[in-house]
Amino acid sequence: MVIIREYKDSDLQSLNKLLLQVYSHTREGITTKENIELVATIDNNVVGYLILNKIYNTVENNYYGHINYVCVLEQYRNQGIATKLFKEVFKICKEKDIVYLELTSNQSRVAAHYLYQKLGFNIRKTDVFRIPIA
Ligand SMILES: CC(C)(COP(=O)(O)OP(=O)(O)OC[C@H]1O[C@@H](n2cnc3c(N)ncnc32)[C@H](O)[C@@H]1OP(=O)(O)O)[C@@H](O)C(=O)NCCC(=O)NCCS
Repeated sequence: MVIIREYKDSDLQSLNKLLLQVYSHTREGITTKENIELVATIDNNVVGYLILNKIYNTVENNYYGHINYVCVLEQYRNQGIATKLFKEVFKICKEKDIVYLELTSNQSRVAAHYLYQKLGFNIRKTDVFRIPIA
């Protein structure tokens, strides 16, 4: 059975297998209040993951959410696991007064784009700029 819950330290090893498979990276950081990390587990093994950041918009005086590192282990895809993770995100957003969500995604991620639009995300045509500082 798939369980959706918040990440806990004992998930690290299992989560890193997933992050290595999908992003060739492991989780290096600490757990913070600002980062809501959700895992999907089967028999206590992490098979899905995402991070939701709650961000305060001073101009509009509201909160929005930014989502990162959405992923599901290859052998568990197309079984609705990412959909379950997002349903939980939507629930958390209501509880935490988050009024909209944003994420970025490369055009090559066909399944992800299909899923995001199915969930109700609209594409905003804009470019993402990044500069390394340190
Ligand atoms: C994107 C990802 C998280 C989806 O996880 P998932 O658990 O398989 O998602 P779900 O099962 O909830 O939904 C996937 C949907 O995409 C559809 N899909 C799968 N492959 C597809 C493809 N090549 N083209 C179009 N739709 C596709 C599935 O049929 C399903 O839709 P349905 O429920 O209407 O049948 C997973 O594919 C993944 O980890 N990909 C690699 C990492 C990635 O791209 N992350 C997103 C970064 S922005």
